[in-house]
Amino acid sequence: MVLILIPLYIANSTAMFLGGKTRLDFSLNFPDNKPLLGEGKTIKGTFLGMLAGMLAVYLINYYFQGKVPIIENYFEYGILLAVGAILGDLIGSFIKRRMDIERGKPVLLLDQLDFVIFGVFLGSLIYSISAELFIVICVVTLIAHKLSNWIAFKIKLKKVPW
Ligand code: CTP
Ligand code: MG
Repeated sequence: MVLILIPLYIANSTAMFLGGKTRLDFSLNFPDNKPLLGEGKTIKGTFLGMLAGMLAVYLINYYFQGKVPIIENYFEYGILLAVGAILGDLIGSFIKRRMDIERGKPVLLLDQLDFVIFGVFLGSLIYSISAELFIVICVVTLIAHKLSNWIAFKIKLKKVPW
């Protein structure tokens, strides 16, 4: 499970920590006259997120392949997880903008799980996980999200605990 979570989480959190300024949608609007993706999706965050996820996958594959039980084409699988996580997050924002939800406004489940769902979906081109494992991953992610927000709040990185 950790081998699935790492590419997803590293890609997603790198995008968050290293987000830039230039918007990925170049401030363009969709035909509905609302932002395509919004201010929260930047070129820098998108590419560094994918890159960091891929780098993590490369290192895991390099050091652990043959030593711990890990699928033979973990490298390819992990790349799909990392790229899918970033794309899933973009799709999440695309959906939010279509629903007229402002950038940064929280949407329960969509915000926390968009990257997991699409990451695992793209990954399934190479390797399908069981429905049970998928549910466990979603629940773990929701708990991890709550926990990290609470920690960020405690160390005053964030003003509100959510
Ligand atoms: N980020 C980025 N590029 C991405 C994804 C995230 O630069 N592709 C950065 C942005 O600085 C963003 C932050 O990570 O503000 C948090 O990401 P997220 O919560 O997904 O974006 P929101 O700002 O909440 O916007 P949205 O309403 O579209 O989810
Ligand atoms: Mg958000």
